Amino acid sequence: MRSKIVAGNWKMNKNLTETEALVSELVAKVPDTTAEVIIAPTFVNLQSAAKHVENSIIQVAAQNMHFADNGAFTGEISAEMLKDIDVDIVILGHSERRSHFGETDDLLAKKVNQAIEKGMRVIFCFGEELEDRKSGNHFNVVASQLKNGLYALPAEAWSKIVLAYEPVWAIGTGETASPEQAQEMHAFIRKEIEEAYNSGISEKVTILYGGSVKPNNAEEIFSQPDVDGGLIGGASLKCDDFTAIIKAI
Ligand code: PGA
Repeated sequence: MRSKIVAGNWKMNKNLTETEALVSELVAKVPDTTAEVIIAPTFVNLQSAAKHVENSIIQVAAQNMHFADNGAFTGEISAEMLKDIDVDIVILGHSERRSHFGETDDLLAKKVNQAIEKGMRVIFCFGEELEDRKSGNHFNVVASQLKNGLYALPAEAWSKIVLAYEPVWAIGTGETASPEQAQEMHAFIRKEIEEAYNSGISEKVTILYGGSVKPNNAEEIFSQPDVDGGLIGGASLKCDDFTAIIKAI
């Protein structure tokens, strides 16, 4: 059985007071589930969030990380810094990092390698733009993002990789991929990984869907056989919505 995950990407939202309030509410209300529940507050609030979730099933992830051990990289955060505050999961490759901050496949491959080397788990995000989907190039785009970002990894590293397929046109737009579109792409991703590695790895890797997942559509999306959970943006900022999505899994 693959592990199921519901992860909340808080992006650049919630100050410390708001973070503590939402984390406390989540800790109190998180439903009983066999799925993993992860939240990713902004860097400055990670330490507080990590402390607040200590006695709950909730885990805390960072939204980004640098590829170097340390040094002259003003404004950046290293894997060791995250691990030191008990954060050992990192989201890498989010489309907002790729488009607003120029993160390329090559840079992401370095970040992924560093995270794995440091014993962290990676939620690796990728997905096509609207033009790619319209022109029918979406499978090629996804295949190349996977290849360039991840295929330098040795087989044993894949136990630390979670994939998050997030079609860019569905992020924050209110437009979700249909359950059939999500399933079609997730099955394709699994096939690609089987070809690059083997079926042991492809059948085991958790593949999340992200892009306007809400309480009213989560169940239908999660019911697809190759969809193992979700990476949730906007709806993870409200306790009731996020817990409803956790219940849907
Ligand atoms: P959204 O964001 O749920 O607000 O569309 C998803 C994401 O960016 O991970």
